[in-house]
Amino acid sequence: MTDRSFLLAWRGALGAFVLAGSTGVLYRIGLATGWTAGFDLVNIRHAHSHLMYFGWVMPALFALMGTYLSPAPSTRRLPRVIGACFAAALLAYPLFLAFGYRPVDLGEARLPLAVIAASLNMLVWYGFVLYYRRARRGRPRSHALHLWDAAVTFLVLATLGAWGLALLQPFGIDDPRWTTALTHVFLDYVSEGWFVLAVLGLAYAVLAPRTGWWDRTSLYLMVAGLPVTFALGMPGSLVPATLRWLAGFGGALVGTGLWIAVVRLWGVADGRWRVPLAFLALKATGQVIVGLLPGLWWADLHGLRVLYLHLMLLGFVSTGLAAAAAMLRRRVAGRGTAVFYLAVGVVLASLLPFTPLWPAGWRGPWAFDVAAWLSPLPVLAAAWLIVRTRPGLDQEPR
Ligand code: HEM
Repeated sequence: MTDRSFLLAWRGALGAFVLAGSTGVLYRIGLATGWTAGFDLVNIRHAHSHLMYFGWVMPALFALMGTYLSPAPSTRRLPRVIGACFAAALLAYPLFLAFGYRPVDLGEARLPLAVIAASLNMLVWYGFVLYYRRARRGRPRSHALHLWDAAVTFLVLATLGAWGLALLQPFGIDDPRWTTALTHVFLDYVSEGWFVLAVLGLAYAVLAPRTGWWDRTSLYLMVAGLPVTFALGMPGSLVPATLRWLAGFGGALVGTGLWIAVVRLWGVADGRWRVPLAFLALKATGQVIVGLLPGLWWADLHGLRVLYLHLMLLGFVSTGLAAAAAMLRRRVAGRGTAVFYLAVGVVLASLLPFTPLWPAGWRGPWAFDVAAWLSPLPVLAAAWLIVRTRPGLDQEPR
């Protein structure tokens, strides 16, 4: 990718973060005051999470992985894929905000417009998968590449889950167990599989540690556990006992694999990477505890689940993307990265009062106000990162 295309992609992705984050802020304001600017609270949440996935993490990952895979500006394909990714994400956003998953009357027809727009996004991701297959050919085998191979496989499997969801209705299947299971195959394979493994791959690519048996073991544990962990996101009542047990065990395997990766990377990481790695270690600890303690179930503990999701997505994935961009192109971020980390840490801490980790006697409605007041911090920090972005490559991709 050329320097100019990278900067456009990075600024665009941060712009999507600002819009999606502001939508999350609106949700928090809605919870604290009841004011939602006329939108349905559930639709606000869908618009927030989908734009974060489609408009922030996806194009940022495409641009960063592309910089490592083809450092010479030899291909125009990737900037086109990234451009299409933004277009599809921005199309889906207002539709999720206005209608959510609900079908909309259009003349004679009733169409789930947001779902159609989301499917368009998936077609664009296949463009990246094709680019990846081509770009990795002939490159020396490295642990980063092994992680990316696994990550891209989970991206493709996630989309199969989504297509399966679309087929349920034509096949007359109206069982909430199937719809919830396939929804979580999609969401969790994208987040736990594609996002986490891909950002971990970036960490290995940027930090270039010596790799060996432990790193391979860490990857095998994650790949072995990930396929069943989607069930942890489903309401406990919908999950049969055997799958409950398998999902917990799978979560513990993934958490252990992530912990090994954190330990392996910690020694070669500087402060910029240690913050994302610390968030990853917290997420992995949660995964191992929930996996091994019978009777604990994420989806039935809403506050804990929201904290866990944001530890992974805002904590590790978002700060990891910022670390990779800052390390590769220091002028992309500068001191802004540290401010972004701080803002993310504060917002994550503001979610603690909604979890059982917070002493029961200290709970109160004030927690909703505090979370609402603090929630704009990462949005402001990301906006500052856009302003501070300057052209210039500071580190040659290895
Ligand atoms: C600016 C930082 C962020 C803020 C203020 C924020 C805010 C929120 C809020 C208020 C909710 C709803 C919580 C609830 O149901 O009680 C939420 C849910 C969610 N957020 Fe975020 N968030 C942020 C960053 C992110 C990022 C970076 C991602 C992904 C890359 C993300 C993905 C999600 C997901 C997947 C959900 C759950 C959606 C669902 O259950 O339907 N968020 N967020």
